[in-house]
Amino acid sequence: MPERIANIKKILVIASGKGGVGKTTISVNLALSLAESGARAGLFDADIYGPNVPLMLGIHRKKSARGLMPVARAERAPYIQPLERYGIQIMSIGLLVGEEDAILPDSNFAGRIATQTLCDVDWGELDYLLLDLPPGSGEPLISLVQRVTLDGVVIVTTPQDLSLLDAGRSLDMFRRYAIPILGVIENMSYATCPHCGERIEIFAHSKRRWLIQDETIPLLGQIPMDISISRGIDGGQPLVQAAPSSAEAAVFRNIAAQIAQKMG
Ligand SMILES: Nc1ncnc2c1ncn2[C@@H]1O[C@H](COP(=O)(O)OP(=O)(O)OP(=O)(O)O)[C@@H](O)[C@H]1O
Ligand SMILES: [Mg+2]
Repeated sequence: MPERIANIKKILVIASGKGGVGKTTISVNLALSLAESGARAGLFDADIYGPNVPLMLGIHRKKSARGLMPVARAERAPYIQPLERYGIQIMSIGLLVGEEDAILPDSNFAGRIATQTLCDVDWGELDYLLLDLPPGSGEPLISLVQRVTLDGVVIVTTPQDLSLLDAGRSLDMFRRYAIPILGVIENMSYATCPHCGERIEIFAHSKRRWLIQDETIPLLGQIPMDISISRGIDGGQPLVQAAPSSAEAAVFRNIAAQIAQKMG
């Protein structure tokens, strides 16, 4: 049976069917928005094959921290110290191995490593812990839902049909474990003209809507495709921290407020 992690009030999963839709970008900016609102927020990078939360927060570690990698010892008290960055607590497999080390465990083992690491971190008291997942409905998601009580999930998509369809497939997993699906975030939804500020539609928006027991999953927000978002995240200075008064930061803040309200 899944169990709660001590001292963490709510765990939120950021998921998607397709890769590269902006989960990590959104996880980082939402965690910063929650922290900015006064909540104690943490972010766990569950992407064992491509852990890039540290880079997106400007943290580099070339050497491995050998001896810290989790092994099966469920009875042991949490012992890995998270890193604090811009007011949020962070842990990533990318902080336990060096940037240049290859991590290639088989997928079952990858799920167990991610889940055990999550449980081995001494998070302290947190209001929200965000889990940034790799794409798809396989590992580590399967191990996580079986072992840890998850309080909600948001699905990230881009406007095109294909990623909507893929995300639809991964919704099944959450339904099966009765994890509330809080809503959908549409990323790279539109652009804003730098000269006149007009909204430019780049992609055709899918008419498809997802249903949970005949109820439409709410759209939590649309995030524009914007150079300040990609420059910030790729340069280790996420937008919400680097440009808190920008219109794009307000979009993240609005979504974070809805999540906080839905999670109680
Ligand atoms: N709204 C946006 N505007 C501009 N660029 C964006 C936006 N969102 C994400 N990006 C860029 O798209 C790239 C992919 O984003 P990100 O790594 O967050 O996706 P992901 O879903 O986490 O990918 P993966 O599935 O590989 O984990 C990044 O280089 C990021 O800078
Ligand atoms: Mg990612």
